[in-house]
Amino acid sequence: MTRHLLTITDLSTRELCAVLDLAERSNLPKVLEGRGVALIFEKPSNRTRQSMEIAVVQLGGHPVYTRGDEVGFDLREPVEDITRVMAGYHDVLAARVFDHHVVERMAVVSGVPIVNMLSDQAHPLQALADVLTMQQFHGDLAGQTVAYVGDYNNVARSLAEASILLGAHVSLGCPVGFHATDAELERLAQVGPGSVRQVHRAVDAVTDAVAVHTDTWTSMGQETEKEARRRAFEGFAVDDEMMSRAAQGAGFYHCLPAYRGVEVTAAVIDGPQSHVIAQAHNRLHAARGALAFLMGVR
Ligand code: CP
Ligand code: NVA
Repeated sequence: MTRHLLTITDLSTRELCAVLDLAERSNLPKVLEGRGVALIFEKPSNRTRQSMEIAVVQLGGHPVYTRGDEVGFDLREPVEDITRVMAGYHDVLAARVFDHHVVERMAVVSGVPIVNMLSDQAHPLQALADVLTMQQFHGDLAGQTVAYVGDYNNVARSLAEASILLGAHVSLGCPVGFHATDAELERLAQVGPGSVRQVHRAVDAVTDAVAVHTDTWTSMGQETEKEARRRAFEGFAVDDEMMSRAAQGAGFYHCLPAYRGVEVTAAVIDGPQSHVIAQAHNRLHAARGALAFLMGVR
């Protein structure tokens, strides 16, 4: 059966651990030798494009970067026609899309793995790098608290899923209106052995956390809401005072791009507790592990 990576919940706990083990291996077989991987982007990218291109090369394959407007999902051609055609050229199709349903529709008709490189709902490749980095700095995440402060968005959802699959206690600090719904919290609680709670005062979320994550308050496609969001998120910026309430030795994490003086102070993101560059570098290892897994390497 063709495996896809649309969300972290496409993986069981055992499979997530297998991907993370593959990510740390430097001797993976060249499973993409002579093969193509399409990387389609409807939105800009630095980390995701670069890490996926190099991961494909390291597995022996050839990445083909494609702008979203070149294929024109449902504009130039239906998503299904684009997918069926490209699946004949490539061994993996990866896409960064506005609407998550696009990658779901791709998966329905594709005979090769579909990888979500960020949608409005999920950012699974980022979450793989997030948990890989946290494991490297804080060890086994089971029983440890992972905090996320800010907008309950694509990055937050995938981070929560991956952390819960690994047995962590996820603590969300999200303002009202930008929070996880009760139904979403109930869904998350079923994802794996970990747990989830949500508070609406940011400082309360980080108590005992070994890792404090945040993300931009204005995701790609939400630019017109930027000023309103800045007002709504007042008090949710990660600063030294907030970090001092986390566990001793806690790390600061951000998927990047980051906006200093908005969701995080420069002192925190550029300070000794920040692991954001290691986290960004792990995007390469996580991408290589994910691609190898989807190609059947175990
Ligand atoms: N974190 C992340 O996905 O970065 P890019 O948007 O630069 O790919
Ligand atoms: N939440 C952000 C992540 C960027 C990598 C966005 O969707 O724009």
